[in-house]
Amino acid sequence: MNEKSESGGPDGVSSNVVWHGGSIDAAARAERLGQKGATLWFTGLSGSGKSTVAVAAEAELFRQGRVAYRLDGDNVRHGLCGDLGFSEADRSENLRRVAHVAALMADAGLIVLCSFVSPFRDGRAAVAEVHASAGVDFYEVFVDVPLDVAESRDPKGLYEKARAGQIKDFTGIHQAFEAPASPALRLPTHELAVEQSVERVVGLLRERGVVSG
Ligand code: ADX
Repeated sequence: MNEKSESGGPDGVSSNVVWHGGSIDAAARAERLGQKGATLWFTGLSGSGKSTVAVAAEAELFRQGRVAYRLDGDNVRHGLCGDLGFSEADRSENLRRVAHVAALMADAGLIVLCSFVSPFRDGRAAVAEVHASAGVDFYEVFVDVPLDVAESRDPKGLYEKARAGQIKDFTGIHQAFEAPASPALRLPTHELAVEQSVERVVGLLRERGVVSG
């Protein structure tokens, strides 16, 4: 991680704290692990396939001897972010916390696969900024399916509940999903087999020098 001044990072620092650096840096950790730490950020509608692709990519990376770890919206909302709902402010706080966790994990040398609806451009830009100021690689992956495809999959029955008025603030129904303008990768999962999406993810990691071979 880069050094931080007492007066502030992008989203605030407690008073009277001083950044304490160590003697092992990201390059040393990358050499030890045989990979560069990085965050892959899967964004898309609920039901677009973010978690499905991340699970399969994690398994493939593991098979290839890599060290990867998933952070998933549904999972972190069981603990770390269990106090948050789906208003714009709560989604922003959700992403702020996860961005810092992901940046720490990537700085530790892991390939972090984050699956979050993250519907707003500003929220995703803030996540990217946390990584930039930590000096950690960050790649946005747009899991891009039309709303009617996500709604017809409805794996958790949430679209049905949202249409029935039993869930509020549902992305795609009551709130917008702002598509990324220039993602590092776009995965139209209604046109790709899961294995093809995984190949593209691993291909991106190779192209960007996160993994070799
Ligand atoms: S985010 O907008 O803050 O990034 P996150 O990815 O953590 O959202 O959580 C989204 C998951 O919560 C969805 O996969 C879905 O299962 C569930 N969920 C429950 N309520 C909502 C809602 N109102 N909008 C979107 N997803 C919701």
